Amino acid sequence: MKWYLLAALGLVLGLSAQIVSAESNPTLPPRQPNGLALTPPMGWNSWNKFACDINEKVIRSAADAMVSSGMKDAGYQYVVIDDCWHGQRDAQGDIQPDAARFPSGIKALADYVHSKGLKFGIYSDAGRKTCAERPGSRGFEYQDARQYAAWGVDYLKFDWCFTSTQDAESSYTLMSDALRASGRDITFSICEWGKNHPWLWATNVGNLWRTTGDIYDGWESTPDKQNGMVNILDMQVGLDGYAGPGHWNDPDMLEVGNGGMSFEEYKSHFSLWSILAAPLMAGNDLAAMSAETKSILTNKEVIEIDQDALGIEGRRVFKDGDIEVWARPLKDGGRAVVLFNRGKETRRISVPWSALDYPADLSLKVRDLWSHKALPAAKGSFSSDVSSHGVVMIRLGA
Ligand code: GLA
Repeated sequence: MKWYLLAALGLVLGLSAQIVSAESNPTLPPRQPNGLALTPPMGWNSWNKFACDINEKVIRSAADAMVSSGMKDAGYQYVVIDDCWHGQRDAQGDIQPDAARFPSGIKALADYVHSKGLKFGIYSDAGRKTCAERPGSRGFEYQDARQYAAWGVDYLKFDWCFTSTQDAESSYTLMSDALRASGRDITFSICEWGKNHPWLWATNVGNLWRTTGDIYDGWESTPDKQNGMVNILDMQVGLDGYAGPGHWNDPDMLEVGNGGMSFEEYKSHFSLWSILAAPLMAGNDLAAMSAETKSILTNKEVIEIDQDALGIEGRRVFKDGDIEVWARPLKDGGRAVVLFNRGKETRRISVPWSALDYPADLSLKVRDLWSHKALPAAKGSFSSDVSSHGVVMIRLGA
C-alpha cells in the first residue's frame, strides 16, 4: 500500500477511536450517588461575615461557639473555611496554607474541629485561581483531593472563578471523581452560581449546587447590590423537582445575624430556606451572636422541617402580589406551610387545603413553629394575620 493510503487509513482509525472514547460508554454503569448529605448539610461558613479576614483563631472560635451556643445540638455539623486560607503550592505542587494566618496547619485545625464532634470543610476553585485569586485546583484535582483527605476534610466547596472556557459539567465531575478516589467521605458543594444549570446534570456529581450568584445581606436587591433575600427566593421557583436526598438546590448561605435585615426578616429568611430544603450554613459571627439571632438559628421545629427525611423541596403554592404561601410535604404525611407577607402592612393570609393536596373536609392539627404552640385544629383552610416582611410558619398533621 502506498504511504499516503496508509497515512489516511491511520488517520481514519485514529479519529474513530477518539470519537468512541469521547462518547459516553454505554457499557459503563450510570454514575451513582456518593451516599452523603441525605438531608441538607448544616454548618457554618466563614465567608458571609469574615470574607478574607480569617485565621485559625476565627475558625476555632466558630467551632467552640457552635458547641456552646447549642447549634451543634440543633443539628449544625460542618465548620467550613471559605476563600483565602491558601498560601502557595510547594515544589511538589502540594497546596500549602497561608502560614501567617494558619501557623498550626490545616490538619491541626481539622483535628480540633473533629475533637468537638464536628466536621471540617474547606474551599477551592475549579479554575486556575479562586475568586480571591489564591491558587485554584485546575490541573491539581487529584493531588488536592488526596491532600484534603490526608488533612481530614469532610466537605469541599468548589467555586467557579478563573475557569475561562472550561466546561462546568466535566470540571465538576473531575473533582467529584477525585474526591471519591481519595478514600474519604467528602461532601461536595458545587458553587458555579447556577450559570450552567447544575440541577440538570449534577444529581450524582455534587451533593448541593448553588442556584444563584452571591446573596446580599438585605431584604431585596438595590441598584448597587444584586441578590437580596427575596430576589434569591424568587429564583428558586421551578427548581424544586431537582432536589432530593443527596442532591440539594443551594440558594446560598444564611445571612441571619449579619445586620442587614430586621429580626422579622431574618425569621422569614430562615423559614423560607427551611421550606426550600436548603443547606443551612450559618454565615454570622457565632462567637458574638445576640440572643435573637441564636433563637432563629436554633429553632429546632423549623430545622426539623428543613431536615425532613422525605427530602421533597417546598414550592410556592400561591401568590397574589405581596402575599405568598409556600408549602412542603413531610414524611409523616403532614405539611409545612409558610404564609409570607412581602408587603409593608400586616395582611391576612389563608391557605385552603386544596392548595396542599388535602381533601377539603379534613380536620388537621396545627402547630405554630415560631411561637412553639399548638393552635386550634383547622378544617378546610388555615388563616392568620402576618406582619410586614414576616411569616407565620406552621406544621399541619393528623
Ligand atoms: C464566590 C462564591 C462565594 C465565596 C467567594 C469567595 O463569590 O460564590 O460564596 O465563596 O467566591 O471568594
